[in-house]
Amino acid sequence: MIKFIPYFHLGLALLVGLAQSDPHPLHDFCVADTAAGSQTFLTNDFPCINPELALPSHFATSALAMPGNTRENPSGFNVTLATISNLPGLNTLGLTLARADLAPNGLIPPHSHPRASEVTICLQGTLLVGFVDTSNRLLTQQLRVGDSFVFPKGLIHFVYNLEASTQAIAVSGLNSQSPGAQIGSMSSFASHPNIPDEVLQKAYLINGQDVARIRRNLGG
Ligand SMILES: *[C@@H]1O[C@H](CO)[C@@H](O)[C@H](O)[C@H]1NC(C)=O
Repeated sequence: MIKFIPYFHLGLALLVGLAQSDPHPLHDFCVADTAAGSQTFLTNDFPCINPELALPSHFATSALAMPGNTRENPSGFNVTLATISNLPGLNTLGLTLARADLAPNGLIPPHSHPRASEVTICLQGTLLVGFVDTSNRLLTQQLRVGDSFVFPKGLIHFVYNLEASTQAIAVSGLNSQSPGAQIGSMSSFASHPNIPDEVLQKAYLINGQDVARIRRNLGG
């Protein structure tokens, strides 16, 4: 029994390490120098401006104040992000903020963020949210105004507006400056170049016409 204890601690330490978000910043802040487009070296984040030149406005944005237009997207959603391009003070802090507008019965299709967990709050409407864990169990919840829900890092999740006649709004915080997003349907059927038809037929147990139809529907 005794000899397993060090392994247990090692395993725990590894798990805790893996659960961390982005690397910790080395300074109080690192306001992104977004004008450094012609930089000749690459860093993991944007370089910082001189901290003495930092202004309160570098830490503020109205980017999430305006609703996104949900009419152009076939699933009826629009995500607006606060990132270092409109909120340069976010640089190196391991954060992204997102506003999601959903049309009546609009859907943010099943997707995952490979580098971030996400906590979302319903600001308007009634939402059905859910994620699928790695044992394929679905966990769902209905959110009313003021309710929040967490999507664990990397797991497939969705947000659906249950109201048939009104817009819904959700705001999410993600614990990475670069959370990444992969929409399952798009990754499978609208990648460039396409995944070979035979692969999709065997993966989804469908025929070539099915593949072609889904691809067309998704603009792939
Ligand atoms: C999201 O909304 C913005 C603001 O109305 C609009 O400019 C943009 O084209 C929309 N994006 C999509 C994918 O519909």
